[in-house]
Amino acid sequence: MESRDVIAILNEDFMRELEATLIYVRNSFVMMDCEASRVTEAIAVDEMRHMWWLADLITKRGGKPVMQHKELDFSAEDTSGMLQMQIALETEGIEKYKAQIDILDDPEVVGVLKHILDEEKRHRKEFRIRLKG
Ligand SMILES: [Fe+2]
Ligand SMILES: [Fe+2]
Repeated sequence: MESRDVIAILNEDFMRELEATLIYVRNSFVMMDCEASRVTEAIAVDEMRHMWWLADLITKRGGKPVMQHKELDFSAEDTSGMLQMQIALETEGIEKYKAQIDILDDPEVVGVLKHILDEEKRHRKEFRIRLKG
């Protein structure tokens, strides 16, 4: 795969991580359930770390991280609605990362995406536990 195609894929991931970071930070401010709020805040920091890892891969390959995201959806009204939306975002990320790991042939990129994928699975589990609780 050409390096510009790899950069384009990494930038799609970067934008999703930026979106998750912003939504989780905001949700952690307004969630009434303290435990769910602290978990969401900690996971927002993980998502920002994913941005750093992706930006490192992008710039090493001659690209620049795209600091754009789609319109943020803050329609969830309560903790349970926010957790459900966060679970859906994690699921979307998990599906995307799995598909990308299958088609990418750059070992460094695949290694980083596998690490991120593991963390997204853990995030989804953490959110699901709080949704049930
Ligand atoms: Fe992430
Ligand atoms: Fe995540």
